[in-house]
Amino acid sequence: MVPPPTARPLTMIVLVLLLASMGSRATAIGVNWGTSSSHPLPPAIVLQLLKSNRISKVRLLDADPALLGALSGSDVDVTVGIPNAMLRSFNSSIKAAESWVHDNVTRYFSGGRGVRIEYVAVGDESFLLGHDDQFYPFVVGAATNIQAALTKANLGSKVKVVVPCSADSFESESSLPSKGHFRIEVNSTMVQILKLLSEHRSPFFVTISPYQSLLQSKNTTLNFALFKETAQSRKDGQRKYKNSFDLSYDTLVTALYSSGFPNMEIVISQIGWPTDGAAYATSILAEEFMKGLLDHLHSKSGTPLRPQNPPIETYLFSLLDEDQRNISSGNFERHWGLFTFDGQAKYQVYMGQTSKKLTNAQGVEYLPSRWCVVNNNKDMSNATAEALDACSVADCTQLSPNGSCFNLSWPANLSYAFNSFYQQHDQRADSCSFGGVGLITTVDPSTVNCLFTIGLQTSHSDSFAWGFSTQLMNFLLTYILVLLK
Ligand SMILES: *[C@@H]1O[C@H](CO)[C@@H](O)[C@H](O)[C@H]1NC(C)=O
Ligand SMILES: *[C@@H]1O[C@H](CO)[C@@H](O)[C@H](O)[C@H]1NC(C)=O
Ligand SMILES: *[C@@H]1O[C@H](CO)[C@@H](O)[C@H](O)[C@H]1NC(C)=O
Ligand SMILES: *[C@@H]1O[C@H](CO)[C@@H](O)[C@H](O)[C@H]1NC(C)=O
Ligand SMILES: *[C@@H]1O[C@H](CO)[C@@H](O)[C@H](O)[C@H]1NC(C)=O
Ligand SMILES: *[C@@H]1O[C@H](CO)[C@@H](O)[C@H](O)[C@H]1NC(C)=O
Ligand SMILES: *[C@@H]1O[C@H](CO)[C@@H](O)[C@H](O)[C@H]1NC(C)=O
Ligand SMILES: *[C@@H]1O[C@H](CO)[C@@H](O)[C@H](O)[C@H]1NC(C)=O
Ligand SMILES: *[C@@H]1O[C@H](CO)[C@@H](O)[C@H](O)[C@H]1NC(C)=O
Repeated sequence: MVPPPTARPLTMIVLVLLLASMGSRATAIGVNWGTSSSHPLPPAIVLQLLKSNRISKVRLLDADPALLGALSGSDVDVTVGIPNAMLRSFNSSIKAAESWVHDNVTRYFSGGRGVRIEYVAVGDESFLLGHDDQFYPFVVGAATNIQAALTKANLGSKVKVVVPCSADSFESESSLPSKGHFRIEVNSTMVQILKLLSEHRSPFFVTISPYQSLLQSKNTTLNFALFKETAQSRKDGQRKYKNSFDLSYDTLVTALYSSGFPNMEIVISQIGWPTDGAAYATSILAEEFMKGLLDHLHSKSGTPLRPQNPPIETYLFSLLDEDQRNISSGNFERHWGLFTFDGQAKYQVYMGQTSKKLTNAQGVEYLPSRWCVVNNNKDMSNATAEALDACSVADCTQLSPNGSCFNLSWPANLSYAFNSFYQQHDQRADSCSFGGVGLITTVDPSTVNCLFTIGLQTSHSDSFAWGFSTQLMNFLLTYILVLLK
């Protein structure tokens, strides 16, 4: 087939870029696409978002058929995940592993329009300190059985089994990379995993988290995390460290070396910077971090211990904000997205897109421009308690210290909570009651820093009834507003 004329300049550019990148290896950039959201953006819109930003690798945390369906026939490389809760059954039953592989991998290889599944990730940070020994004792058995199931399905050469590890699965004395080792209690499990990975030439998946290092440790600076340190580099013998990323990476390199796997390839399965809900979580700093990271990775200069051998792939964390992520480790957890929950770029990064700018999601459908606020004319004695209740379900992380809405004074902060609950409940009238102090308004209560969002319209099944009641509501609301004047 003759390519359309417009495709030629693009092909040329790609060719030139390819030639330029030969010689020394550059890391491939992908993103994590999570769906812990009350109203996830429709998969077809997300796929378009990936395409328009030339993101060609994604990591999913499970094997959601809706997401894999959207990815079918695309040229995006995909990592599918096995949730921690499933590890126990795959450790004890090869049949269960075979059945998972059949349903969630093999199926997508048949037929013309397949999904380019590259990795199966067994568990997600099963070694995380917060999980204790809930999951990791099952991970070797589960990975072995999934590997056997893939081999049996003749996919052993196409799909690699990997085991994503948390940033706290390795550590070092005095923050010196040359003293790196795996955490004592997981060391022997880790060695078994490394053995399995190396037998199948699979890489080591790991989270690196300069943001959490900064929050948790007094022994680091913002500039060190943001790749901007110039004056004080850290010394480790003859080696000098100028940023938090290299320090963590080389700590892992030493841990791999001392476990007997000095040549193990590394993939960064999660790395990012949140933009709300905690100290240093702003779009300005996130942009600086991402620019620093991507410049560093594209420079191919590697790290002091692996100058020629940067990570083979890096998955940014994450694509979109997710309003239902677990916040036990911090209120920033719901704000990792490069894009907001509705697919709007929060800042600019260059990931290879021709325009050098991020493109926003197209065709996003919103609920009507309507908000729920506190009614000042009512008895407000219960309002604070009502808002607190709302926050136990809705997302109020923006109200926490250093959050974008922390500056709202009482009772505007209650309105924020009310609205969050109301949008999460699809603007149902009864979700703006709050014992009588809730009020539906068409006047945007947002301030310069604090955005009162409008929810996504995601329920299409009952769109007729829904559309009808919406029109009715709009009519009544307008009528009431007119009466009040
Ligand atoms: C994993 O499965 C094996 C084989 O069934 C079993 O012997 C082992 O005890 C299981 N591991 C754990 C931690 O239960
Ligand atoms: C396939 O994956 C989905 C999503 O992760 C899961 O719900 C389902 O149980 C899996 N199938 C099998 C047979 O395990
Ligand atoms: C902090 O860093 C300095 C300089 O690298 C090092 O000497 C010191 O031991 C570190 N402290 C901790 C608690 O890691
Ligand atoms: C971890 O296990 C490896 C291999 O058994 C061993 O060489 C190493 O010393 C162990 N590391 C720690 C910190 O226990
Ligand atoms: C976070 O908020 C606290 C309390 O308002 C303030 O003292 C601190 O400076 C803030 N930190 C950052 C990094 O914004
Ligand atoms: C959030 O994570 C914590 C710690 O891992 C866990 O104890 C808690 O049950 C989780 N909460 C939810 C709602 O999953
Ligand atoms: C506040 O809550 C209490 C207990 O639920 C209830 O008895 C009272 O009527 C409420 N007050 C107002 C003004 O709604
Ligand atoms: C909150 O208000 C203070 C003082 O007016 C201002 O310096 C700060 O930037 C504000 N913070 C946010 C997150 O809006
Ligand atoms: C709103 O602010 C008041 C006064 O500072 C505080 O007591 C209340 O907990 C806040 N409510 C929410 C939902 O943040």
